[in-house]
Amino acid sequence: MKIAVIGTGYVGLVTGACLAETGADVICVDVNEIKIERLKKGIIPIYEPGLDEIVERNYKGGRLQFSTSLRESVRECSVIFIAVGTPPGEDGSADLRHVLQVAREIGASITGYTIVVTKSTVPVGTSAKVKAAIQLELEQRDAAVEFEVASNPEFLKEGSAIDDFLRPDRIVIGTESDRAREILQKLYHPFVLNGHPLLFMDIPSAELTKYAANSMLATKISFMNDIANLCELLGADVDAVRKGIGSDPRIGTRFIYPGIGYGGSCFPKDVKALIGTARENNYELRILQSVDAVNDDQKHVMFAKIRRHFGGELAGKTIAVWGIAFKPNTDDIREAPALVLIESLLAAGANVQVYDPVAMTEARYVLSENVLFASSALDAVKGAHALALVTEWSEFRLPDWKKMHDLMLNHVVFDGRNIYNPAELQEIGYAYHCIGRMS
Ligand code: UGA
Repeated sequence: MKIAVIGTGYVGLVTGACLAETGADVICVDVNEIKIERLKKGIIPIYEPGLDEIVERNYKGGRLQFSTSLRESVRECSVIFIAVGTPPGEDGSADLRHVLQVAREIGASITGYTIVVTKSTVPVGTSAKVKAAIQLELEQRDAAVEFEVASNPEFLKEGSAIDDFLRPDRIVIGTESDRAREILQKLYHPFVLNGHPLLFMDIPSAELTKYAANSMLATKISFMNDIANLCELLGADVDAVRKGIGSDPRIGTRFIYPGIGYGGSCFPKDVKALIGTARENNYELRILQSVDAVNDDQKHVMFAKIRRHFGGELAGKTIAVWGIAFKPNTDDIREAPALVLIESLLAAGANVQVYDPVAMTEARYVLSENVLFASSALDAVKGAHALALVTEWSEFRLPDWKKMHDLMLNHVVFDGRNIYNPAELQEIGYAYHCIGRMS
């Protein structure tokens, strides 16, 4: 089966490489010539554990190719995945310009029966727009080519995307015919040998499933952040509450970790987009509106704790920030809570010293030049009045607290992810603040 994947971003590249891994003949297409040339040399544009090996293996094995020519690449393909970006427009809704441009080019190029699968996260109704765009192109070139559209949202998590693709919890596919369903079933069969379901449904349901899944997960997080804040007022411990509720399988243990707000390119954008979709249909998603508002507030919680600790006077204080990426194992800093914290600290006159194991390059693009970019975790705390742990990278989990004690001017730790032991830190002589736990 010959497959084209349009867009070599995070989703497209992982999809192309993992499909090639099962022996499919895959061509990944992108308009960015530099990116494609670099991919041919094995240079991966994003940090995603395991992706470089899988790309290299399949490229060398001839199963994975790269091209900048959409029209040539899709001509002989039976399945084409659209995996280009859908950045939020000014009103927060997904900008479909790239998706529809790709659809038009597909319509201008295909020669035989093709299934065009949308993998980008797109609002309900987008597949119908893709179909119309392809149809129009075919009519314009007077070509009687059979094609179908399908929706196959992705549920990859940055940092564990390869494993999520190769061993998914489920695969969701919206189709309009048995023919498309059989072809896609064959394509995805190797990935559900673990017994997990391949769920076929109608296209609008598949499109909505993606938004509902991310919104549900975001809801769990905002709910727990609310409960954590309440714990602080009541003298309760959110760790105990989390374990207490999570042991009920109806609630579950995952995605109920409080922190300083969810970030990344997915939850914030998708929650806002679903609120917008509902509004367009004269419906208010009140729960999600609160989820979004709680998350915005939560991103300010750590700054408020730091300011309170220093009696409202942050001018001249030096704060070390560990972690800028929105979560560990990624260099993605989009909507990262660290950015909000750093901005507030700078505005209050504090000096900021940051360190992240992989996101420093990205951070240099967006952070003010007033920030000091440290060369290591220890370097960041030198001369600091406080340490703020923002992203729970493994290398931050067991710091040498005693050594750090000598390096810091003042000894206080703000733990935005509740990864440290309050008793241990207090014994060594640190003041300790965390989220919703007794400290
Ligand atoms: C999320 C979903 O988990 C994926 O299933 C989905 O495919 C993806 O969005 C997408 O739409 O592409 P991702 O954004 O990579 O994946 O990251 P998550 O691991 O879900 O974390 C999102 C945020 O929630 C992070 O800022 C993380 O720190 C935060 N989080 C997560 C918490 O604050 N508490 C938790 O218990 C879990």
